[in-house]
Amino acid sequence: MRLKHCHNFEDYRALARRRLPAPVFHYIDGGAEDEVTCRKNVESFENVDLVPNVLRGLGDVDMSVQVMGQKLSVPFYCSPTALQRLFHPDGEYAVGAAASAAGTMFGVSSLGTVSLEDLRRKHKTPQSYQFYFHKDRGVNRAMMERAKTAGIDVMMLTVDSITGGNRERDVRTGFTIPLRLTLGGMASFALKPRWVFDYLRHEKFRFPQLEGHIDMSGGAVSVGNYLTEMLDPAMSWDDAAEMVAQWDGQFCLKGVMSLADARRAVDIGCTGIILSNHGGRQLDGSRAAFEQLGEVADAVGDDIDIMMDGGIRRGTHILKALAMGAKAVGIGRYYLFALAAGQKGVEHALNTLKSEVERDMKLMGCTSLSQLSKTNLAF
Ligand SMILES: Cc1cc2nc3c(=O)[nH]c(=O)nc-3n(C[C@H](O)[C@H](O)[C@H](O)COP(=O)(O)O)c2cc1C
Repeated sequence: MRLKHCHNFEDYRALARRRLPAPVFHYIDGGAEDEVTCRKNVESFENVDLVPNVLRGLGDVDMSVQVMGQKLSVPFYCSPTALQRLFHPDGEYAVGAAASAAGTMFGVSSLGTVSLEDLRRKHKTPQSYQFYFHKDRGVNRAMMERAKTAGIDVMMLTVDSITGGNRERDVRTGFTIPLRLTLGGMASFALKPRWVFDYLRHEKFRFPQLEGHIDMSGGAVSVGNYLTEMLDPAMSWDDAAEMVAQWDGQFCLKGVMSLADARRAVDIGCTGIILSNHGGRQLDGSRAAFEQLGEVADAVGDDIDIMMDGGIRRGTHILKALAMGAKAVGIGRYYLFALAAGQKGVEHALNTLKSEVERDMKLMGCTSLSQLSKTNLAF
């Protein structure tokens, strides 16, 4: 499968499937337990229809949005994801460069494999830092200080992962970091010699965000174990409020779902919330973020920037989310599958999505995204 044959999400997924060892592909593709929420995330967009306006005498369309104090040229950003150098040796470098070329924000995960400082030096485009709250409060303060010094624009505290989701595909393949595989898992690596060659030839796999703060040298740690053992399930609203005060800048909670929590995020001074169920990778059976969006946007949309992620596969999904009240949306698997083809792959994917948004805006009869509202939706 070659990039020039990729026209949509499913094509990038097929490309990744061809290029990545099966355990790595399944780590990206999979979700928690029965993957009901994974499927629901996509289906939720199909339950709402777009109602276009016509004969508007359209000229050029403006796809830019303003969110969390950042101007983005397109209404979507690359949501932070872990372990990107496993998907391509250039990992976060490739994603940062592609996001930069598209004029949008990219997120660096606490479990990122390139340092946030290196990325900050390379790219001027807005950069967010996805924060996991560790048991050791001193570590949390030091990591925040480090992100501030590096010049991170937006702090994103993930609040839906105080323990690891039950990702059964990873259990079956034996997916751990460093890689220690089941026999079946090993065989699937043998089938992708090019990936193995690239993996061994390039810079050693590291977790630069955690280095100096957390000892990750103690053997194989599954990502689920990291979440379960290192992160603090006792994290509370007071802890979050303290972080907001320490950060003293653009700060959002990633993984809010209920209206009550959205209101509390406003109360503690957050400037944004991301409605998200972590791409269906944490609590299976959780509602889709898109389904919560209308109610939350109606109640607190004037007080806080609302974003959402999960299940975005088409430009029309983005327009539906914006019409429902989101300021911007995050994409995860969409760019991660394309990352199997490196920076070119991510650029290709972001361009595909961008041209869909542009075409769909014209078909909806709008020149600016602020013209979209619930009147453009039918339920
Ligand atoms: C492989 C993978 C790794 C992820 N790693 C993180 C992470 O480290 N921190 C985080 O807050 N979210 C993480 N996410 C969740 C994404 O940021 C985002 O919420 C989700 O992928 C959106 O759903 P989508 O993949 O359907 O677009 C990850 C998602 C995937 C697919």
